[in-house]
Amino acid sequence: MEFFPRRSGRLYAESVPLSEIAEQFGTPCYVYSRAALTDAYRSYDAAFDRRLLICYAVKANPNLAILNLFACLGSGFDVVSGGELRRVIAAGGDPGKTVFSGVGKSAEEMRFALEAGILCFNVESKGELRRLDRIAGEAGKTARVSVRVNPDVDARTHPYIATGLKQNKFGVAYADALPLYRIAAASPNLQVTGIDCHIGSQLTEIAPFVAALEKILTLLDRLTSENIQVSHLDLGGGLGIRYRNELPPSIDEYARAVTSRLAARDQSILLEPGRSLVGNAGLLLTRVEYLKHSENKNFAVVDAAMNDLLRPALYDAWHDIVPVEETDASRCRYDIVGPVCESADFFARDRELVVNEGALLAVLSAGAYGMSMSSNYNTRPRAAEVMVDGGKVHLIRERETFDQLIAGEKRLALSCDSGP
Ligand code: LLP
Repeated sequence: MEFFPRRSGRLYAESVPLSEIAEQFGTPCYVYSRAALTDAYRSYDAAFDRRLLICYAVKANPNLAILNLFACLGSGFDVVSGGELRRVIAAGGDPGKTVFSGVGKSAEEMRFALEAGILCFNVESKGELRRLDRIAGEAGKTARVSVRVNPDVDARTHPYIATGLKQNKFGVAYADALPLYRIAAASPNLQVTGIDCHIGSQLTEIAPFVAALEKILTLLDRLTSENIQVSHLDLGGGLGIRYRNELPPSIDEYARAVTSRLAARDQSILLEPGRSLVGNAGLLLTRVEYLKHSENKNFAVVDAAMNDLLRPALYDAWHDIVPVEETDASRCRYDIVGPVCESADFFARDRELVVNEGALLAVLSAGAYGMSMSSNYNTRPRAAEVMVDGGKVHLIRERETFDQLIAGEKRLALSCDSGP
């Protein structure tokens, strides 16, 4: 099923024309398809023929409606801050199905997560392990832990989103993992329950996943031989999606590669997918403010900007950009840029487009790391978000207002003419 079909020249989200959404909610606006989200989740669930807990990586898109949808489908969650855990709880998610990743968990975040009863802390250093043991002891609780192992495999992805190499800050060096597990196993307030790894994001090949899994299994055997029991293997997220011409493995291929290597093991599997659940389930709707032609460049200035979708500016990422309605304007190559005062404020360079001023454009594959990385740079209120469900459109986040933007700020009562 196509979730964003084109019919008679008009682009739709499920059965709602995007132009109607722009009319009703304004632009820029993120639009998600409930059916696409559900379909991606079910594909994971169906592909694994063994005990599997999907822990959706909240950072990819933390809107409460999206978390709530996944919670209703049975999902667990991967969080990287106390704030994300609060979102999971606010959305009706189960803390008992939630893992906590990240290199910098504060004492306060640990207390909160212990109180909430999360499934597991994915511990990333010896210091963190010690702190967690102490805090769990003070709280009279036992913290369930995995060590996030850095398997030193090359994920062959953008350097900013590779995490499994020795030089990355993430996880514990492979050689240090066993000694750390021994410490964990001997700590009175910790209970070892899993092994964790996550090697990077937007992976388009199976081989790095398999290489990481094999190292995890070797470690698992060592732990078993030392009588340190592990009940789950957390293989992280990272499965890529198609933005342009990538050919990432399908969820089925990925599942086959993983499960075929686990046949003889009885551990359950945890996965932390983010992008592959939400990336292609959302787009950013924006309107062309001006077409600007100069001697050797043409610009389409749109009303969304790098503060709304940072990926092109930060990673030089490609997003397909298509007109919402076909017109008879002339075909032209444009740099598609936003109003922010930075040369990096672009969505695409030299892209062929047929558009008029005032036309709507859809920036595709924007469901992951779009809204979640947005900011208020240039005092731009954040975009609205809607979720389409068949013929219905639900506003799931109101467009931010100027008053919300300055709510926490204070003017000092200075008199302007009393300066030095
Ligand atoms: N688990 C952990 C511990 C992670 O750090 C991440 C993503 C995930 C799971 C989910 O990975 P995914 O399935 O989404 O690839 N802002 C970048 C992506 C950063 C990913 C950070 N970690 C982007 O826009 O491409």
